[in-house]
Amino acid sequence: MTDVVLDGVDKVYPGGQIAVRDLRLRIAEGELFVLLGPSGCGKSTILRMIAGLEEITTGDLWLNGSVANELTPRERNVAMVFQEGALYPHRTVKGNMMFPLEVSGDDRAEAGAKVVELARALGINSMIDRLPGTLSGGQRQRAAIGRALIREPSLFLMDEPLSSLDAGLRTELRIEITALVRSTGTTTVYVTHDQVEAMTMADRMAVLREGLLEDVGTPEQIYEDPATVFVAAFLSSPPINLLHATLWAVEGEGLLLDFGSQRLSVPWNDPRASSLISRHGRSVIVGIRPDTLMPIAPGSPAPHGTVLSGRIRTMEFHGHEWLAYAEAGIPTIDATEVGRPEPPETREPGRPGVRDRLRTLFGGPHLHDEPVEEHAGHHRRSDLVFRIAPGNRPSRGDHVALRADLSRVLFFGADGRRVTPVHR
Ligand SMILES: Nc1ncnc2c1ncn2[C@@H]1O[C@H](COP(=O)(O)OP(=O)(O)OP(=O)(O)O)[C@@H](O)[C@H]1O
Ligand SMILES: [Mg+2]
Repeated sequence: MTDVVLDGVDKVYPGGQIAVRDLRLRIAEGELFVLLGPSGCGKSTILRMIAGLEEITTGDLWLNGSVANELTPRERNVAMVFQEGALYPHRTVKGNMMFPLEVSGDDRAEAGAKVVELARALGINSMIDRLPGTLSGGQRQRAAIGRALIREPSLFLMDEPLSSLDAGLRTELRIEITALVRSTGTTTVYVTHDQVEAMTMADRMAVLREGLLEDVGTPEQIYEDPATVFVAAFLSSPPINLLHATLWAVEGEGLLLDFGSQRLSVPWNDPRASSLISRHGRSVIVGIRPDTLMPIAPGSPAPHGTVLSGRIRTMEFHGHEWLAYAEAGIPTIDATEVGRPEPPETREPGRPGVRDRLRTLFGGPHLHDEPVEEHAGHHRRSDLVFRIAPGNRPSRGDHVALRADLSRVLFFGADGRRVTPVHR
């Protein structure tokens, strides 16, 4: 087992493409750590730098307390599984799984027994004499995972190993991989762009955006208290409502969230009130997840400042629930635009970036120091999304009143960063 530290790591590809910027991350021994982010954010690059398949441009990789930048993949004792697990086509499943042990000269009988045991754990023991070409995608991935794990690596790296499988198989394998990795206790870094996979598998996870770390923490921490609007939106399915408001501190009433045509108010006794008051008269982004908006009968009693209203424009059936979209006349925010990192200037490969060697190494989420913009993001009219309880379905065109659970509403500055910092 190994702990992994990335200390101010940058990656600049030979063409000058900057893929990873000043990454600071610590992955603890035995942890199942997930790297999550949209396509092109640098996930595979990070994994390949940890594996030793890609050179680190600047910064250091530490494995078990020693700088490992110059170590070969073999010296790092890492095993890696890719999206399409590359198996030798002319070797059987058993032959593929045996291969790493043959290379290291292990006893054949012992190696054979080990393969059978691992194949059983992976649910492929009945097909160990078959060639990869005769297996399904899921079976091939199991064999690839088996081949990676057989040598008992100190570090197990997986790059979207389930993304080419269908949804049902993905769920099944996700559960099995998690259980297997946990049972071996091997430090694992798992790359995905699927937020469900990340949240269900991770002990801790990092969310990346354009080569920068946006947030890091346990899935619960990141979901309940995302560092940025981008993270809140990326982890929200159904999508979070991101609404533009101006905040007014009003004596006797609370902190008024003025959406133009509608208002909510945060009571003074809310624990975040003291952080929010500094935003008096300024723009804030209010994040309301669909499950924190509860339809109530119009006109029914509700605490002051907790109700938004709208007219149902459309409804969607999702099997276990209905989602409704209501026109509420409130400007919404495009999460992909808010707080967007400055595009990196491409730079000469190999030329070191400026890096402060004295900075605190494990100082929490990296947040770029951009000037606060009061009107960032695109304001466009859009719909409020909310859930409808079964058996209580309104019709299109109906007016709805929605009570917001203000204790679960998220607040961000106009720059997209969380208003209330939480120390993790
Ligand atoms: N060999 C390369 N040469 C130049 N640029 C590269 C190379 N590999 C990746 N990049 C660029 O680096 C950035 C990060 O790529 P990377 O493959 O790490 O992203 P990713 O998060 O794994 O994306 P995906 O989810 O699509 O796999 C991208 O902008 C990509 O175009
Ligand atoms: Mg990738």
